[in-house]
Amino acid sequence: MFRSFNPLGADELQELWSAAAEIWDMRHAEAAFDGYVSADFAAIHTRLASLKDRAHTFLEWGSGLGVVAIMASRLGYDSYGIEVKPDLVRAARELAERFNATPQFATGSFVPEEFSGNLREGDEFHRTETQDRSAYDEIDMELRDFDLVYAYPWPEEHTIFRSIIRRCASPNTMYLRYDVREGLSLTRPARRKSR
Ligand SMILES: C[S@@+](CC[C@H](N)C(=O)[O-])C[C@H]1O[C@@H](n2cnc3c(N)ncnc32)[C@H](O)[C@@H]1O
Repeated sequence: MFRSFNPLGADELQELWSAAAEIWDMRHAEAAFDGYVSADFAAIHTRLASLKDRAHTFLEWGSGLGVVAIMASRLGYDSYGIEVKPDLVRAARELAERFNATPQFATGSFVPEEFSGNLREGDEFHRTETQDRSAYDEIDMELRDFDLVYAYPWPEEHTIFRSIIRRCASPNTMYLRYDVREGLSLTRPARRKSR
């Protein structure tokens, strides 16, 4: 499907980031914001722009206020976000509308139903919610359909996030990770044999 290429300009980007910061200032005491921390949006926007020629479908895991999925949508990606907290999904949809972006947000878990971790390989969730249903059906997509997946895991969850990509994504799926100390890293995993 043809999507128009209309990236947010510098002023609009500042406006989007400020709008998200304002929501955080007003609402961070609410339970929905318990696990929400925002990443370095400027660095992510630059990286998403540079990857645009290599990827079309984009997914933000744990999309929170949806800022990254919104930026991706305006860069011309077919953009999606999955977030477990319904209040955050509502806020993300409102922000998307305000910034003329068309990402699709789904409420539920980004962990695919078929994923089972391997404790011996360090697969352990710490702060990721594990009780909710996987949300891929809601967007009629599977993890393997995405060219580029972005996440901001807690440091102790780097291993299990990579495992999900290795086991459930396509061999061509690129994984962009943000870490507060290490910044952004991009990996394209080779498929492992399933056990
Ligand atoms: C560290 S914040 C990242 C927010 C945003 N992606 C960013 O980079 O600025 C992690 C988000 O993941 C959400 N989350 C936690 N467990 C989840 C799950 N199983 N499925 C979907 N979202 C989840 C939290 O509610 C929170 O909004």
